[in-house]
Amino acid sequence: TVGTPIVIAIDGPSGSGKSSTSRGVASALGYDYLDTGAMYRAMTWALLQRGVDVEDADAVAVAADDVSIRVGTDPQAPTIQADGTDVAGPIRQDEVTTAVSPVSAVPHVRELLVRAQREVIATSSGAGRGIVVEGRDIGTVVAPDAPLKVYLVADTAARAARRAAELGGVDASLTEASLTRRDTIDSTRTASPLVQADDAVVVDSTHLTLDEVIEHIVGLARERS
Ligand code: DC
Repeated sequence: TVGTPIVIAIDGPSGSGKSSTSRGVASALGYDYLDTGAMYRAMTWALLQRGVDVEDADAVAVAADDVSIRVGTDPQAPTIQADGTDVAGPIRQDEVTTAVSPVSAVPHVRELLVRAQREVIATSSGAGRGIVVEGRDIGTVVAPDAPLKVYLVADTAARAARRAAELGGVDASLTEASLTRRDTIDSTRTASPLVQADDAVVVDSTHLTLDEVIEHIVGLARERS
């Protein structure tokens, strides 16, 4: 049986395999997919574009009100726009990756984006579709009632090696330092830090292939839908 479409929250640190996993799970179940990290990155891109000093939390909060972000939820072809521009490429650049942690620590930015994320979830659910939502605070803040919450982890060295391979042969020790820096900022900020929800299922992907992780989560989803 196909079961009732549900909301699946997938949280975890940078490089744990969240994006590939979430898209794979959504595709396997015929669900929508929402990448909330892409929204924080798009917001950051738009602020940099405006010349806002991302270390100035007040300036970030004021300018953020003016930014419009749109996301597409097809797991096969996710799209992201800021102020009408397709930013799928630019949001993966180093400049954005470095600036996104201070931007996402600003409470007003989180307020704006969490509201937008809940609207996307409500649209999918309202249309009778399930949705896989990936981020840092999905199970704790954005969708605390999600019937399935996964907290995806992997050893730092494994995460760095994957990220370095993704970036095409950069030094894994540099990637590891940048991951550790982001982990620290993301888990020690006061506004919605990265924490595991009490009712989340921990999945460690260190020694599993992508397909094994997807299969495992799809199995959990079938039990709960
Ligand atoms: O998943 P990612 O690397 O694309 O996320 C980019 C940044 O956005 C990450 O450093 C933390 C932040 N983020 C967040 O604070 N809350 C989320 N729900 C998703 C991402």
